[in-house]
Amino acid sequence: MYKETQVMTLLNKYVRILKYNILHLILSEFWVDIAKEFFWKTKHTGQFLDYNFDVTKGEIFVKCMEGATTNICYNVLDRNVHEKKLGDKVAFYWEGNEPGDEKTVTYRELLQEVCKFANVLKLQGVKKGDRVSIYMPMVVELVVAMLACARIGAVHSIVFAGFSAESLCERIIDSQCSLLVTADGFYRGDKLINLKVIADEALEKCRDKSFPVERCIMLKHLSKEEQEASSPGSLSPPAKRSCPDLQVPWNPEVDVCWHSLMEGASDECEPVWCESEDPLFILYTSGSTGKPKGVLHTVSGYMLYTATTFKLVFDYHPDDVYWCTADIGWITGHSYITYGPLANGATSVLFEGLPTYPDVSRMWEIVDKYHVSKFYTAPTAIRLLMKYGSEPVHKYKRSSLKILGTVGEPINPEAWQWYYNVVGDGRCPVVDTFWQTETGGHVLTPLPAATPLKPGSATFPFFGVVPAILNESGEELEGPNEGYLVFKQPWPGVMRTVFGNHQRFETTYFKKFPGFYVTGDGCRRDKDGYYWITGRIDDMLNVSGHLLSTAEVESALVEHEAVAEAAVVGTPHPVKGESLYCFVTLTDGIDYTTTLEAELRKQVREKIGAIATPDYIQNAPGLPKTRSGKIMRRLLRKIASNQQDLGDVSTLADSTVIEQLFENRCCTAL
Ligand code: WT7
Repeated sequence: MYKETQVMTLLNKYVRILKYNILHLILSEFWVDIAKEFFWKTKHTGQFLDYNFDVTKGEIFVKCMEGATTNICYNVLDRNVHEKKLGDKVAFYWEGNEPGDEKTVTYRELLQEVCKFANVLKLQGVKKGDRVSIYMPMVVELVVAMLACARIGAVHSIVFAGFSAESLCERIIDSQCSLLVTADGFYRGDKLINLKVIADEALEKCRDKSFPVERCIMLKHLSKEEQEASSPGSLSPPAKRSCPDLQVPWNPEVDVCWHSLMEGASDECEPVWCESEDPLFILYTSGSTGKPKGVLHTVSGYMLYTATTFKLVFDYHPDDVYWCTADIGWITGHSYITYGPLANGATSVLFEGLPTYPDVSRMWEIVDKYHVSKFYTAPTAIRLLMKYGSEPVHKYKRSSLKILGTVGEPINPEAWQWYYNVVGDGRCPVVDTFWQTETGGHVLTPLPAATPLKPGSATFPFFGVVPAILNESGEELEGPNEGYLVFKQPWPGVMRTVFGNHQRFETTYFKKFPGFYVTGDGCRRDKDGYYWITGRIDDMLNVSGHLLSTAEVESALVEHEAVAEAAVVGTPHPVKGESLYCFVTLTDGIDYTTTLEAELRKQVREKIGAIATPDYIQNAPGLPKTRSGKIMRRLLRKIASNQQDLGDVSTLADSTVIEQLFENRCCTAL
């Protein structure tokens, strides 16, 4: 039978072109319509989205709404207060670590505080384009600081408050920040974190590396005096926190107090109008070489994308109370605590504490307390709470809940079912949102009620996102298949570059398969076209929804004088998803002791942060290597999880090391 005649081939080609162009037209109309809901000081001139994703055709770039000028802070605050008359609407219900420690902030109050802090920053000499590091706990002032930067066109670089002094120092220097905003300290459950002590250590390290930071603004979160805290207009709640162990070192040459600066500041501040492609923020994410990458997002595209994904993925309604449990120090908090919800005029819960403090019902208590309707958390939190059964959940009604979201790693069907049936009483759609620091917002996600769900699948691409699955040689696979997850074209919120290193941006994301953005994730497409993320296929680990690179942990280990070589792999963990299993080869003549093991753990924690603390460290007199000397991590993963079926070992230089490693396996975690 005739299938491909000449004329059919021709026709097919034109149908393809037609489809492609109609799609582009609709898409650009879709975004242009959305853009109309925002304020633009000047309109954009060229096409909505311009890009090159093909390294063989020149430099990689993405530009959205070139020629337009706007201000994201103006859009998420002033417009809501003045145009939409939402001044008295609650922007945040702040819920502290300690139950009963709480505060409500309206849109009008938030705008005033942001204007004041923007004036403070200006007085400290911060100008458009300058980078400001923010290292703070989950307090309203963190949102104030980031929006104040955005208001004056400064670029915020938020560093998660769980990172170590070394990590903070590295990020400050990489982004060349002129100022640091931090706080005295905070509680995580019953553990006191002396944040200012760590911040000072980081600044000391910066000085040692000839990068003196001139100013450090410190918020008194714990050390504020009672009458100071309860003064009118203050955002901090009255001090309910007794903390005799708090240490607040003070360096008068560098340090200034948030509160005294704010006292004298005016609450009027004209926003600085920014170009669409001006930088908005830098956020660091682990890189496979070990050095974190400063992911850069720009103003207009990110604003449209986070606002729209928030609205559609959580089916936002004005009377919703939304709660995302992430920390603002991660992209989830940037996009779906600050920018997305505020752009929609939403009311959110901002939670400082932990899901298990003071007990494992805390989340559901908060849901009932604020009548949370849209709830967004991570699989690791679900698995953690699942361990305690349904009783702590059933203690609270949760009848306000309408939609449940998840993000950070693949959710196992068992956790999905528990989330859906126990937390949501089988009546709330679960939106499993796949995205990355780099994507700015959701890229694969169900749309509630519109997408039939399959537990464990992030379902389909969001509007304008075009995924593909490639094999090792870069060929696009059609139909049900498994391979590398890539994207064929940009969407407004995708990252624009790696700060200060555009070449690294091109190499990391675009070099392997020219023409595509490479996510680094493996993915399966089933017969119904659903996408299933299978996990990272590079040297990254996902611990509790946070990416870590094996190289980063290995270099922290080998910095210890006793370690000659280290190899780190991930091993399945029931709550964290993956945990760190480290193999270390010691320098000749050194004995492996429990003291050394404890030192190595401490070393990694101090170099990176508590999230990177290894669960297992194994003495490895020899590592499995190929004849050319490359460590065979595939085999180490098998050893870590005690799987004897090693597959092909023909390239292994010395097979005796394998037996030795199996014999010395660690059986118990930390
Ligand atoms: C990596 C990105 C996006 C905010 C949190 C993490 C994994 C994320 C999912 C999901 C399966 C997921 C991927 C991705 N991931 N969400 N719903 N299903 N995997 O941001 O630190 O940049 O990590 O997290 O592996 O590449 P990130």
